[in-house]
Amino acid sequence: MTAAPTNDAPLLRVDDLHIALQADGRTFNAVENVSFEIGRGEAFGLVGESGCGKSITALSVMGLLRRPLSLGSGRIVLDGEEIQHASAARWRELRGPRIGMIFQEPMTALNPLSPVGRQIAEMFVLHEGASWNEAMDRAEDALRQVRVPSPERRIKDYPHQLSGGMRQRVMIAIALACRPDLLIADEPTTALDVTVQAEIIDLMSELCAAKGTAILMISHDLGLVSNMCRRVAVMYAGRIVESQPAEAIFATPRHPYTRGLVDSLPRLGERARRGRQKLREITGVVPSIVAYPAGCRFNPRCPQATDLCRTTAPPATALPGGLVRCHHHD
Ligand SMILES: Nc1ncnc2c1ncn2[C@@H]1O[C@H](COP(=O)(O)OP(=O)(O)OP(=O)(O)O)[C@@H](O)[C@H]1O
Ligand code: SF4
Ligand SMILES: [Mg+2]
Repeated sequence: MTAAPTNDAPLLRVDDLHIALQADGRTFNAVENVSFEIGRGEAFGLVGESGCGKSITALSVMGLLRRPLSLGSGRIVLDGEEIQHASAARWRELRGPRIGMIFQEPMTALNPLSPVGRQIAEMFVLHEGASWNEAMDRAEDALRQVRVPSPERRIKDYPHQLSGGMRQRVMIAIALACRPDLLIADEPTTALDVTVQAEIIDLMSELCAAKGTAILMISHDLGLVSNMCRRVAVMYAGRIVESQPAEAIFATPRHPYTRGLVDSLPRLGERARRGRQKLREITGVVPSIVAYPAGCRFNPRCPQATDLCRTTAPPATALPGGLVRCHHHD
């Protein structure tokens, strides 16, 4: 018998997710053994270098994986409902009212031929049965909430008439229009300049907190993610190699890759002390899916690699509030 979800149950549970990639007539595991949970209203971060599988993990939670990628195995449970094999019709009901998404580049997500107010209003018409008049009024309010100046005029603007930061505000308004339980933000600010980035992150966090919306925040920037999230998972080459509460990731990183990410971050005051000295970088690059090394996938870049690491994938070891996958995590 399946227990009914209680309020203590996580909002989202991703359980042993595998994502398959078809290439050259063969099947590769692009993502493997990925598991994490997000509580109601919680901000959870997923961090890692380019190509490690963050976006395709997010797309699977939105039911948006397309060929040559497909869901291999595993479960995605939203509020007690298994959704990994949901029908197209069910996904349309979930996207918007239950799960909202903000992408890195709003120009690709917004319709260039439709005024932004209409694109926000559509959410109220489609998902809440509002009339167009009422929906346009609510769209203006939504623009005001994301602090777009003169929203009564801006609702008529097309996406190309807005700056990058304003377009990203519109994306936030669309994603949060129906007060979803979960917001997936995939590199929402990397296309923006630094001062605008901070404003957008603050706005997103503030609105999610006010609406009780949980966030899955995806970024290559460990500093940014740890600032806004309570817990953080670090991904490398398709696997989660470490997860811990945000402060523990910094204070006691247990995986050499996480230590590399932490060491490559400028800390307060440190820049001044180091003068022109370069911050430490992790040497080498993330391997391609079709050429993952045997054993631990980080072994060609790891300063602590031993023979065991080159032959045997490290199992997950539980940590307080998380896990680590490294043979030598002690
Ligand atoms: N449509 C696709 N066809 C083939 N390979 C893909 C496709 N989409 C993603 N991949 C591959 O899957 C892997 C993971 O991609 P993903 O986009 O999830 O990385 P990411 O961690 O989000 O990186 P980034 O920080 O650059 O956004 C990469 O090796 C990528 O090349
Ligand atoms: S398992 Fe070995 S190679 Fe992998 S991170 Fe740990 S020490 Fe490095
Ligand atoms: Mg990505």
